[in-house]
Amino acid sequence: MFQKISNFLRGISVNKYSGTGTVIAMVSFAIYLLFELLQITGLLKNAFIALIAYLAFPTLFFIGIILIISGWIILRKVQGKISDKILNRHLSASEIAPGIFGSKFSRTLFLAGIISIIFFVTATLRMLTYMDRTYFCGNACHTIMNPEWEVYQNSPHARVKCVDCHVGYGLQPLIESKINGMRQMILATFDAYSQPIPTPVHQLRPARETCEKCHWPSKFYGTKIKKKVHFKTDSVSTPVYTTLAIKIDEHSGTGKAGIHWHIAPENEIRYASVDDKRQDMIWVDVLQKDGSYKRFRNRRLPRHSPGETDSRILDCVDCHNRATHIYQDPQLAVDDAIQSGEIPSDLPYIKREAVAAILPIYPDKEMALNGISSHIQNFYRKELGSSVTARLEDLENTVKTLQEIYRVNIHPQMKIEWYSYPSLIGHKGDSGCFRCHNQNMTDSTGNHISYDCTLCHSILANEEDDPFKYLKPLKSSDEGLKDKNHKMHQYLQEEFLENLK
Ligand code: HEC
Ligand code: HEC
Ligand code: HEC
Ligand code: HEC
Ligand code: HEC
Repeated sequence: MFQKISNFLRGISVNKYSGTGTVIAMVSFAIYLLFELLQITGLLKNAFIALIAYLAFPTLFFIGIILIISGWIILRKVQGKISDKILNRHLSASEIAPGIFGSKFSRTLFLAGIISIIFFVTATLRMLTYMDRTYFCGNACHTIMNPEWEVYQNSPHARVKCVDCHVGYGLQPLIESKINGMRQMILATFDAYSQPIPTPVHQLRPARETCEKCHWPSKFYGTKIKKKVHFKTDSVSTPVYTTLAIKIDEHSGTGKAGIHWHIAPENEIRYASVDDKRQDMIWVDVLQKDGSYKRFRNRRLPRHSPGETDSRILDCVDCHNRATHIYQDPQLAVDDAIQSGEIPSDLPYIKREAVAAILPIYPDKEMALNGISSHIQNFYRKELGSSVTARLEDLENTVKTLQEIYRVNIHPQMKIEWYSYPSLIGHKGDSGCFRCHNQNMTDSTGNHISYDCTLCHSILANEEDDPFKYLKPLKSSDEGLKDKNHKMHQYLQEEFLENLK
């Protein structure tokens, strides 16, 4: 068998071109098979090597085949028509003796052709599916994608593939993403990428083609109660509660529409912003029933501002920019850890000290781990005195938890620090919803886009000792002017109950 294959290979190597081609094709074929074996058995895990292997060996194989064919074409040019006489020089008589289905040589050639095509197609498909795998996306360009990979694994989409949001479905998105991928690989090779990766990401497919494949817009209903607990920085880290009933409905038929009204199929919101950060709005248009647009303009900007004509249709990502790459706020991350018990709430000043330990940006990982540990250990050795021995295990767990929070969120190699990627889902300062919902965005009659505190959520408690404070009956001592919040409580309670109807 081996003898036959080697005879055949020697036979097709008619000159230096096809000779080189045969060597290249055979070697790349063999290495590819070996690589696949390592890959399938799990012995090889490095995503970058896999990428190179999937790109390089089929390409080399292809070049080999082209060289073999060129060798034969050149032979034919030099010698005229390829006659039996020429074939005889390279192949044995038994191989070119004519049979029912052609000579042995032509049958082998046919078989080799089929094997090459199968090899080529399988290798390409393997490469494409491999590149779609989350592990590949998260690890091939380790330094660059590592931060997104880390925070993704803690997110609600940890089981959704990167490509489901970043590439979308269909042939055109696939081709575009591969071309874009090539560009990014070149940038990565020459370290010519920005750190951190700038947002908003402009190459994302429209959300209608990605998010909406899984989240069906007309299936958002009702109100979502969200209870948040924050801890104060006092000695006992007193918990305070904020509870919102978030109006996530999209329906506009009833006259009472909620947050997903923006993306209901019959609605369209488009906007122009000062720059591609999409932060400072110039105007916002709302599609009307008659097909025209109603415009709200930022009255603080001059009539003809730069960027005036570049508009974008609002979609999921304009609010859910951190749907899956959820970088935590250090205060809230500590709140969560205290709430879940990973950090014991009965350590004195634990909220204040835990935040103080993780807030500084340390030069490297090693120093961060040590810095966090020594901050906590030093403080509590002093604070607790001799009774510290009883709390050593608690301190150790606290340190571990804080180190983990730091590790996941801070990435010096990509210059990602606290607050590098803010979320747009709420209204920190004048960001998030308040980019449009503010008193400066006015229509032709001077009315602004509403920023009424109960437009988007009923407020059931705002930093109170009870998560449902405003729903509880007011005590008689609260009546009248004594409780200056009395009217507000009553208003919020009524608003919530009215909204439930
Ligand atoms: C649920 C959808 C979704 C999934 C799954 C997803 N991403 Fe993203 N990703 C986004 C969105 C949306 C943005 C845009 C954020 C913006 O424009 O502000 C983004 C942005 C990014 C960025 C730019 C930096 C940043 O944090 O905004 C990188 C890098 C990235 N994603 C990599 C990945 C990798 C790697 C995976 C898989 C491990 C992945 N993404 C999975 C939705 C997703
Ligand atoms: C392949 C399917 C898929 C795609 C694509 C997808 N999601 Fe999701 N999404 C999910 C799943 C599954 C969950 C988790 C549901 C759960 O845990 O209850 C989820 C949860 C969410 C949540 C709720 C998170 C929470 O805190 O409860 C939001 C918001 C969300 N997705 C937004 C998006 C946005 C925006 C996009 C597009 C950028 C997107 N999703 C793309 C499947 C998907
Ligand atoms: C105008 C801003 C905005 C837009 C646009 C928007 N959302 Fe939301 N979405 C929100 C807010 C605010 C919430 C509630 C936040 C929370 O749960 O913390 C939410 C909640 C959700 C949830 C969780 C619902 C639940 O029951 O827990 C999902 C899933 C979701 N959105 C998906 C989407 C998808 C998909 C799109 C695009 C088709 C989209 N959203 C467009 C603001 C928006
Ligand atoms: C790009 C601009 C823009 C952004 C960003 C935006 N909105 Fe809106 N929103 C509008 C406009 C415009 C209207 C309609 C105002 C009108 O017609 O009076 C609206 C209306 C609403 C309504 C009322 C719907 C109705 O018809 O009753 C709610 C609720 C709402 N937005 C919530 C949100 C929330 C929550 C966010 C942030 C997560 C947000 N919006 C972000 C532009 C925006
Ligand atoms: C355009 C919609 C909109 C308007 C108007 C609005 N909010 Fe909000 N608010 C949100 C959204 C969305 C969130 C984030 C919910 C989440 O965290 O998932 C939020 C969060 C909050 C929080 C919780 C912050 C935290 O994390 O502890 C408070 C408190 C709050 N809003 C109060 C107000 C007050 C007071 C007003 C009136 C000045 C107001 N909101 C107006 C949409 C709105």
